[in-house]
Amino acid sequence: MSHADLPGACDAIDAALGVSPPALMQLMRTRRSIRSYTDEPVSHDDLKTLLQAAVYAPSGHNDQAWQFIVIRGREKLLGLANAVTGFMESLLTQLANPAGRDALAKLLPPTMVKHLEEMMPSFRLIVESQHAGADIIFRGAPALIAIHTPRGLGTGTEDAHYAAGNIMLVAHAMGLGTCLIGFLVGPARHSPQIAATIGIPPENEIGTALVVGHPKHRYRRIVPRRQPPVKWV
Ligand SMILES: Cc1cc2nc3c(=O)[nH]c(=O)nc-3n(C[C@H](O)[C@H](O)[C@H](O)COP(=O)(O)O)c2cc1C
Repeated sequence: MSHADLPGACDAIDAALGVSPPALMQLMRTRRSIRSYTDEPVSHDDLKTLLQAAVYAPSGHNDQAWQFIVIRGREKLLGLANAVTGFMESLLTQLANPAGRDALAKLLPPTMVKHLEEMMPSFRLIVESQHAGADIIFRGAPALIAIHTPRGLGTGTEDAHYAAGNIMLVAHAMGLGTCLIGFLVGPARHSPQIAATIGIPPENEIGTALVVGHPKHRYRRIVPRRQPPVKWV
């Protein structure tokens, strides 16, 4: 987009709103991944606010090529969780079998096969927990936002994550909880059926996904973090 394409009526900046650096810092320091939600749905207006925050994220070449799918309702999310569990189960079966593992090794780079092998205990735990009725993938959240971008877009994954970062911070400011769901991203990249279940068209691929809801619990303290490993030059 060039400056000549900018719409005439741009919103004025409300300088009085401001955000003090300590307030913003506290917001960032108190955001947590929320893995326990109440049954209260997230309102349509709140979801729209989150998506407005998302599109103010930076994007490579200012492409703004992200697209959002908002899945609302536990039943739909449970259906998606079952599809992901099925995918993980078939992967576990394949990796446990030497011929299946060899077939995967021919398809995927060695680092990916190693990563999958390292993930086997987590996949096993997820599959067992989902079968036992615990929603360990979506954490009982009432909504999921999947962010997808056209295949071949150089910075699609990065753009999606920056958009998700904006969503997570504004959601936190609104009293909502979020959690990135990497356990959906891998299966959605490798299984066209799962991508289709989410609603991602074949010409696009998932960048990231996150759940949103009203947190069941509130944190009272700020979690400690390791100091930034930095080399000052
Ligand atoms: C790329 C990525 C994928 C993630 N996927 C999951 C996930 O599938 N399930 C989950 O519970 N948390 C997931 N997380 C959340 C991390 O576990 C979490 O950010 C980390 O433990 C730090 O905790 P905090 O977010 O509360 O600060 C993911 C985080 C990132 C950055």
